Amino acid sequence: MHYICRGMKENDFTGKLPNHELPGGSFNWKAPSNIALVKYWGKRPPQIPANPSVSFTLDHCATRTSLHFVPMESTSGEFHFTISLDGKSSDSFRPKIQTFLERIEPYLPFIRQYSYRIETSNSFPHSSGIASSASGMAALSLCFLSMERALFPAMDEDYFRKKASFLSRLGSGSASRSTEGPLMQWGYHTAIPGSSDLYAVNYPFPVHDIFKNFQDTILLVDKGKKQVSSTVGHELMHHHPFAENRFRQAAENLVKLEPVFREGNLEQFINIVESEALSLHAMMMTSSPYFMLMKPNTLEILNRIWAYRQDTGSPVCFTLDAGANVHLLYPGNIEEEVKKWIESELARFCEGGQYIHDRVGLGAQPF
Ligand code: PMV
Repeated sequence: MHYICRGMKENDFTGKLPNHELPGGSFNWKAPSNIALVKYWGKRPPQIPANPSVSFTLDHCATRTSLHFVPMESTSGEFHFTISLDGKSSDSFRPKIQTFLERIEPYLPFIRQYSYRIETSNSFPHSSGIASSASGMAALSLCFLSMERALFPAMDEDYFRKKASFLSRLGSGSASRSTEGPLMQWGYHTAIPGSSDLYAVNYPFPVHDIFKNFQDTILLVDKGKKQVSSTVGHELMHHHPFAENRFRQAAENLVKLEPVFREGNLEQFINIVESEALSLHAMMMTSSPYFMLMKPNTLEILNRIWAYRQDTGSPVCFTLDAGANVHLLYPGNIEEEVKKWIESELARFCEGGQYIHDRVGLGAQPF
């Protein structure tokens, strides 16, 4: 494996201790989820991807986070924070936040000097099988970075954007792609200028208008907790018999997507995106130990998407996350007919008949 970083270096993000402190206050950020078109699966510490990826930033599926902070009179060596989700104290997130704070401290060395109240809520239902780690970690990172900008107001916009993605990555790899939109690329690739393993960048090549109004209906096949976490899945890519070929395939697919995005070639888009989704799941099924996250209704929906595309010529396609839910992707100009078809034919394969209409969005916003 070759892991090479270009562009800004890790040291460029190291933080300084300020010579003054902030009075108590709060920062509030809303960050969206994202859906990868070329998938990241496999990493090494600290959250360095084994292959580059690209994703659509979503719009409606988002996390809103308020970070309230108060300076502490003396620092005790511990991080002091409370977390609530939808107004209820939520200790289950504590270990993840604790790890995150330890990881970001070298880059934001002032964080131990304050105590925090983190209030967070998701726009999507809590148990929907939609991972909130990308949106949640991006929103929280932006809140902490806003503290740094308040302490060092000369921070320029480009640095802020890169550092937002850099810190988000330390919370959850895919979170690095949730800070901006509509199309984000993460992971160094020789053919992609400005690309980096450390942070995501806005896709740097021309993108046809058709992709700026793309729709993503998330068909909630299974709202339960996944049997195998992404953390374990990434881990299983070490010593995976097909790992090197998979990493190469992802890098090649990124190159193939460049003319596709530029020309708006939906046929090729569909081909690459569906292949990526199935390759991701093929990695899971060929890991040791092997596992499968797709459910019977996932396969039922995929077959129906293929049949519908064949019968109508409509450019609908799917992608999959590390779970059983299906992301149905289609251009905005066929939204009405596709929504009718979802209701009449696909909804019955969703748990409780539930799905979420989302679309491509522009990234995180303060509120
Ligand atoms: O960011 P993580 O560690 O939850 O991994 C996410 C991996 C996939 O969603 C399956 C693919 C991707 O690129 O987002």
